[in-house]
Amino acid sequence: MSRRRVAAGNWKMNKTAGETRTLIRDLGNKLKGIEHGCEVLVCPPFVALETAVDAAKGTVIEVGAQNASWQKSGALTGEVSPEMLEYLGVTHVILGHSERRSIFGETDETVNARLRHVLSGSLVPIVCVGEGLADRESDRTGDVVRGQLRGSLAEVPADQADRLILAYEPVWAIGTGRTASPEMAAEVHALIRGEIAAIFGDSVAEGMRVLYGGSVKPENAAELLNEDEIDGVLVGGASLDASSFAAIIAAVG
Ligand code: 13P
Repeated sequence: MSRRRVAAGNWKMNKTAGETRTLIRDLGNKLKGIEHGCEVLVCPPFVALETAVDAAKGTVIEVGAQNASWQKSGALTGEVSPEMLEYLGVTHVILGHSERRSIFGETDETVNARLRHVLSGSLVPIVCVGEGLADRESDRTGDVVRGQLRGSLAEVPADQADRLILAYEPVWAIGTGRTASPEMAAEVHALIRGEIAAIFGDSVAEGMRVLYGGSVKPENAAELLNEDEIDGVLVGGASLDASSFAAIIAAVG
């Protein structure tokens, strides 16, 4: 089965709405000159999403959010619901990013609650998993990633799981300039696919896109994408510049 590759940019807390319009326009212009078949996604901060959707009109660029609530509405100060995002024309949402987990106390349980509510609507969730440096150094990568998958994906019905995208982001590689080697990443991607097969069955696993994230740059994207197990990239810093993200998109193909 062929899986359509994805080049996704996680802008984190960067770019105002005005800067968002400029960056999407510049990226759209660069993409006209690049042959690519992959999905192209940008995930700006919440307050820039409406602008982003508008700026992306007439381009191949899709717009995602960086989180979404487990509830449609209610007394949840600071939260944004999937329904609100859908209303704006947002199509994807990142869930369980390691910065949400480590800085804002998200757990597999909260990620799971968000995911299950997102799946009741139409957004495509991108669920992030990945081990910390201490986990890797003590040979616990497999256990940690499998545990995050089991917890985050608990009670998701198999007929909804085929919409999911997963992102493997080793925490020690995020924003550090250290990238997992292609072989290292591919090994964990294969482990993830195996776990997905155990949870949802072979056909869901075969079709699931598993993205790699962590210091992806134009210089290392092509060798990562050489690995069959790597179905695309989730890019932080290098997605904030139209030229470097366009070069990564070209490498994704
Ligand atoms: P960097 O590409 O800046 O390392 O960030 C990766 C990431 O966290 C994407 O979600």
